[in-house]
Amino acid sequence: MTKTNSTTFHFAIIFMLILEIKIQLSDGSEFLVDRSKRGLIHVPKDLSVKTTILDLSQNNISELRTSNILSLSKLKILIISHNQIQYLDLSVFKFNEELEYLDVSNNKLKKISCYPTVNLKHLDLSFNAFDALPICKEFGNMSQLEFLGLSATQLQKSNMLPIAHLHINKVLLILGNIYGEKEDPESLRDLNTENLHIVFPTRKEFHFILDVSASTAVSLELSNIKCVLDESECSYFLNVLSKLQKNSRLSNLTLNNIETTWYSFIRMLQLVWHTSIKYFSISHVKLQGHLGVIDFDYSDTSLKALSVHQVVSDVFNFPQSHLYRIFSNMNIQNFTVSGTHMFHMVCPSQMSPFLHLDFSDNLLTDTVFNNCGTLARLETLSLQMNKLKQLINIGHMTKEMKSLQQLDISQNSLSYDENEGYCSWTTSLLILNLSSNILTDSVFSCLPPRVRVLDLHNNRITRIPEDVTSLEALQELNVAFNSLLHLPGCGTFSSLSVLIIDYNSISNPSAHFFQSCQKIRSIKAGNNPFQCTCGLREFIQSIGQVSSEVVEGWPDSYKCDYPGSYKGTLLKDFRVSPLSCNPALLIVTIGVTGLVLAATLTVLCIYFDLPWYLRMMCQWIQTRHRARNIPLDKLQRAFQFHAFISYSEHDSAWVKSELLPNLEKEDIQICLHERNFVPGKSIVENIINCIEKSYKSIFVLSPNFVQSEWCHYELYFAHHNLFHEGSNNLILILLEPIPKYSIPSNYHKLKTLMAQRTYLEWPKEKSKHGLFWANLRASICIKLMEQTKE
Ligand SMILES: *[C@@H]1O[C@H](CO)[C@@H](O)[C@H](O)[C@H]1NC(C)=O
Ligand SMILES: *[C@@H]1O[C@H](CO)[C@@H](O)[C@H](O)[C@H]1NC(C)=O
Repeated sequence: MTKTNSTTFHFAIIFMLILEIKIQLSDGSEFLVDRSKRGLIHVPKDLSVKTTILDLSQNNISELRTSNILSLSKLKILIISHNQIQYLDLSVFKFNEELEYLDVSNNKLKKISCYPTVNLKHLDLSFNAFDALPICKEFGNMSQLEFLGLSATQLQKSNMLPIAHLHINKVLLILGNIYGEKEDPESLRDLNTENLHIVFPTRKEFHFILDVSASTAVSLELSNIKCVLDESECSYFLNVLSKLQKNSRLSNLTLNNIETTWYSFIRMLQLVWHTSIKYFSISHVKLQGHLGVIDFDYSDTSLKALSVHQVVSDVFNFPQSHLYRIFSNMNIQNFTVSGTHMFHMVCPSQMSPFLHLDFSDNLLTDTVFNNCGTLARLETLSLQMNKLKQLINIGHMTKEMKSLQQLDISQNSLSYDENEGYCSWTTSLLILNLSSNILTDSVFSCLPPRVRVLDLHNNRITRIPEDVTSLEALQELNVAFNSLLHLPGCGTFSSLSVLIIDYNSISNPSAHFFQSCQKIRSIKAGNNPFQCTCGLREFIQSIGQVSSEVVEGWPDSYKCDYPGSYKGTLLKDFRVSPLSCNPALLIVTIGVTGLVLAATLTVLCIYFDLPWYLRMMCQWIQTRHRARNIPLDKLQRAFQFHAFISYSEHDSAWVKSELLPNLEKEDIQICLHERNFVPGKSIVENIINCIEKSYKSIFVLSPNFVQSEWCHYELYFAHHNLFHEGSNNLILILLEPIPKYSIPSNYHKLKTLMAQRTYLEWPKEKSKHGLFWANLRASICIKLMEQTKE
């Protein structure tokens, strides 16, 4: 076992222990203090008395004294591995009566002094500098001991005696370089443990003569075995293995970190074949040399499972067919070869007992087990992480595997094109893992007909075609991490109960899903770019109707992606008004609103004469506008009056009682032709005189006026072209409506003016009079020049 390995292993144990303690102490009274990797050279003094777990690993602490930990009466776990401690007196823990777990591995311990510490369950003294095994007679009292880690460079049988009567679950023994008489081959005879792990020195040729089978272990792990010298042919280690044949208790053997030749490697397999070992695992192997034709004796084996992990070979270029033949004809149930550069495997030459084959993480191609009829008992096969390319070939490979139920071909480069032909699979296949390949929509026409669990996650599927051959047995479908745009219906998968479809491109899932998929127990559809618009409401409602356990990850992984204003909003919180989602309702609403508006307008018009107000406003605005546009000097031409007023005799009562008072009270100068009469001139001349001296001309229009007076002006206006450039000067007040027919047909100008509606209408209602006068005054109110006013 390497350093990292052992550390990981220890951490795993610590973690499990912590978990265990957490469970035991339901009041949460455990108190973890982590001071690892702080460069400490002493045990810190500021530790809380409540501390139950103390981690001081990976510092430079060289000493551990009673005073350091005296106060920590609750301490249960102390980890002080990877420090510089050279000497340890176990009596320092005499006041830590709760201490159960002590890890002093990876220090520089040469010596320990003992003290009865009866409560320890875990004591790790491995990876230290002891010569003899650090076992003292007090250890014999540690009846709770479950794990004991030791290290030594000498092995004496007598060393083990004090603990011979204990039943220790696991013993880890780290061996330094041992030579000659310092190694007693029988040393392990009195070791009473279920699991024994012996770590031999690294980078040293294996020279041990230790009888590893002497212990009571059921499970044995041996790490760091190097035998590469050709002349010895690994005889020391092979000797050790051959002794295992005498031991009938041993059922698990694990070899770690082996450096040897191909030939010795096969010899090791051969030796183990004839022991009582059932489970044999070899990992991290470095192999040299070539392998010639070699016979392998498969007879009389107890072996059920062989695993070979992580093999690197210096020379992997010899003809490997022998090797493959040895492998493929193994008479065991489980065979694993992973993390090697194996690029082929041949078909067993006769009916094979293989039930479970795991060839993951190799370089196998589509030709593996081509037309192989001897794997008819095989139930599970993993070809994960290889170099498989065409799905159709793999389907064909399974054809003869009549018992194959589970096939893992994930993490290859598999694709399928319908033009390649018709796919056929063994009908026994129930679980198929096709994840992490480059499969597209067409994969749905190349699937085993009775598949129950199908993993297609991380492929390139955009659509599940509706016309696929129905997969009636399919219960679990994983299509996460594809590019699907829609939720599928369950028309073709009538038994579907689990659907995983998160991380796709589904923006508008259909609400019919739950109707179509009656048997669904679980759907995971989060992390899709949901488009939060009207269409989604039904889907959200339909989720609300199913039980919350059915929708995995709801509500947290279901978020709006679009429109921008809703981005990140949980679907659960997405609300949109029913109105904007229902076109009929929207039209009705707009219609009703329109009607109400129209009715209001009508009422306003009828009862409050809205148009009149609007016209007044209009004129007001126009007047203001004009006044601003006309240059001042033009305005201030020698006018003597603000306005000239012309009216019919019939309307004189209104003019005298309403118009004049209302204008003159604001200091507006008015020219009336009868009042400002210049003797000796005709009426028309007088009128024209008045018009010329006035800034504006006001005509009080009524049917009477039109009939009797208009003629006085027609000529003048026509002559002076007043209506074109000067109509600004005209103010028409419509005192009474003038019916069109009553205007004589030759009064074109009047007709034009009336049609343009450029007159002020005298309102009958008193309430409107104020606005009328204001408007009128505004249009004639200018400052007259001083000198013109005599
Ligand atoms: C063989 O492998 C299968 C599947 O990996 C496993 O369930 C079974 O426990 C293994 N059997 C033995 C004997 O190792
Ligand atoms: C399929 O294989 C992948 C690894 O490639 C694994 O993560 C996944 O759990 C497997 N699926 C099933 C259904 O076992």
